[in-house]
Amino acid sequence: MGRFPRKDKFYLKAKDEGFRARSAYKLLEIQKRFQLIKSGDRVLDLGCSPGSFIQVIHRIVGEKGFIVGIDLLETESFPSSNVVIRKGDVCEIDIKSIMEEYGIPSFDIITSDISPNISGIREVDEENRKRVYESIKKITVAGLKTGGHLIMKCFFTESFIPIKNDLKNMFKRVVVFKPQASRKISPEVYLIGMSLKKS
Ligand SMILES: C[S@@+](CC[C@H](N)C(=O)[O-])C[C@H]1O[C@@H](n2cnc3c(N)ncnc32)[C@H](O)[C@@H]1O
Repeated sequence: MGRFPRKDKFYLKAKDEGFRARSAYKLLEIQKRFQLIKSGDRVLDLGCSPGSFIQVIHRIVGEKGFIVGIDLLETESFPSSNVVIRKGDVCEIDIKSIMEEYGIPSFDIITSDISPNISGIREVDEENRKRVYESIKKITVAGLKTGGHLIMKCFFTESFIPIKNDLKNMFKRVVVFKPQASRKISPEVYLIGMSLKKS
């Protein structure tokens, strides 16, 4: 067994309820608490594979919404025509051209559940986390509407406070949220930026 017991309560619940991953319950908790995703929203989901966030988002936005998912890995496609998946690295994608392709003027919400690959070398991993954050920020500035929200997984490492402070400059309100479904020993938390300020 690895660092985490794989078949925990949420893993089994996800299997039982047809979610592609246990992460679904993290987003469900965030939604229950903050109610940020609305029916008809256009949502960008970064680090979307295998797709459980998208399953949750799709239930909320319905057929009038639109979801773009992006991941380095393949993501099994969705039967709905308002869910599109792109394989790619958030550090390399051109979000504006993707938006143009689908006729999206701006996103209402951006979610990021990205877990950057870990090398085990502290400096390398921290640099990679910062690089991924800078890319998410760039995508947010280019794609999120004024007043829109960002739900972003982050890790309690040395870059956490600078990232949180940076988001405080961009959003009217920033909260840190650790869902019950997030393993207690995992350093992950979600930084939630509410209402993007006018640039
Ligand atoms: C915890 S998983 C996401 C689970 C997903 N939210 C769900 O509910 O099914 C993290 C994902 O981040 C992706 N990822 C890591 N670095 C990335 C990058 N630079 N660009 C795009 N995706 C990345 C990984 O491939 C992985 O699929």
